[in-house]
Amino acid sequence: MCYAIPGKIKEIDGKTVVVDYFGQEKRAINEFYDLGVGDYVSAQGGFVIKKVSPAEAEETLLAWKELFFELQDMDLRLSGINLNQKNIDKGLRLILDKALENIPLVKKDLLYLLSLDRQQDKELFFKAANFLRQKYHQNACCVHGIIEISNFCNQSCQYCGIAASNRNLSRYRMSVTEVVEAAVEAVEKYGFQALILQSGEDSDYKLDDLVGIIEQVKNRCPVLIGVSFGEVGLDGLDRLYKAGARALLMRFESSNPEIFAKVHPGRTLDSRLAHIRKARDLGFIIMTGSLIGLPGQTREDIVNDIYLTKALGAEMYSFGPFLPHPDTPLAGCLPSNQEEVLKTLALIRFIDPETAKILVTTAFETLSSQARRLGLLSGANSVMLNVTPLKYRRHYAIYPDKADIYSEINDQIRETIDLLKSLGRAPTDLGISSDLVNNHEKK
Ligand code: 5AD
Repeated sequence: MCYAIPGKIKEIDGKTVVVDYFGQEKRAINEFYDLGVGDYVSAQGGFVIKKVSPAEAEETLLAWKELFFELQDMDLRLSGINLNQKNIDKGLRLILDKALENIPLVKKDLLYLLSLDRQQDKELFFKAANFLRQKYHQNACCVHGIIEISNFCNQSCQYCGIAASNRNLSRYRMSVTEVVEAAVEAVEKYGFQALILQSGEDSDYKLDDLVGIIEQVKNRCPVLIGVSFGEVGLDGLDRLYKAGARALLMRFESSNPEIFAKVHPGRTLDSRLAHIRKARDLGFIIMTGSLIGLPGQTREDIVNDIYLTKALGAEMYSFGPFLPHPDTPLAGCLPSNQEEVLKTLALIRFIDPETAKILVTTAFETLSSQARRLGLLSGANSVMLNVTPLKYRRHYAIYPDKADIYSEINDQIRETIDLLKSLGRAPTDLGISSDLVNNHEKK
């Protein structure tokens, strides 16, 4: 099974190539390959990860062709909206008219959307977000894998189940070889083309080890590697980039410095943002966002979190619900809820319709069995599957009852592909933002 259909190069301008997927055009950065117009490539996250032989590409494309157009039609049907419905709330109607005409919304509009209460209004808001997703991104959907390589952590984030203070957790650290083998298996056996490697801030995992893992995986198979090891230092980021990592998954968790400080003893928002900005300058794809529903968070904070994500030049928005963990200081707090998460995802699509890749997070899938379907129908266009070896997976307990801790990779893949098919989505690459293209062209 493959999670990215190959595309044909239509144009080349410096490092930027325009890749055609059955008539849909997306841009990608080519760093390493000798390519000409008419060549076939696989791209992930807007980076060319391999050149594909014409024979192989044409065989895959032939197998996909009919299905692709069926999916495209289905997506178009599912993403239509009817603004002539009776009883639409007047305020909502005005905001939707603005958004659909590309007029920027002001904060008051955004807060209004977050405060919608009637079921029919919320549904229309979500549908409008889905409409915008289709308009700018068509039916492309990214499917990434994540491998959680160690649950040791020297930090004390108040919400997190793998924080250093939790003595009720059995800790594991995959060896370098185990990580490399798991990554290569995810690519070669299961067809993943983009993988995130994540861990707690594990002092015993030295930067040399992390660099070694990335280099070894890149040497063995074509894949886009994202890193999520916490605050490794600005030089650390540089080393991870040079080793071949091209995405950074690092949430700032809250754009409100007071909330940030309260839940991250010993850490500052400034230091977190410095990491993200440095990664951005280095040329990483930025995946960032916040926790929805942290104690003390207001709706205005959520809007500010989205604004900050956009200002950081994020390609992917990772916003998930806060879920209280019993072995943390925030155990007694209320969790976020499905509606609040869907509103946030939809609002992201309104604020950054053209660039945002929006992830349905595992935390949301843990909160609701319908999360993926509902999220993908409310503006989201990206999912992540957990490919951590099963024996370790349940110990990466950042929150309780995490989704997919017992499901075999094959089952997750089947369910995901079935869901994407039922929604008319296809695994073509989503391309890259103009900002990141410019950043790479300047190098
Ligand atoms: N609920 C939801 N998400 C959590 N994370 C950590 N603890 C929790 C929790 N209790 C998220 C953080 C972090 C990511 C790896 O996991 O946002 O960035």
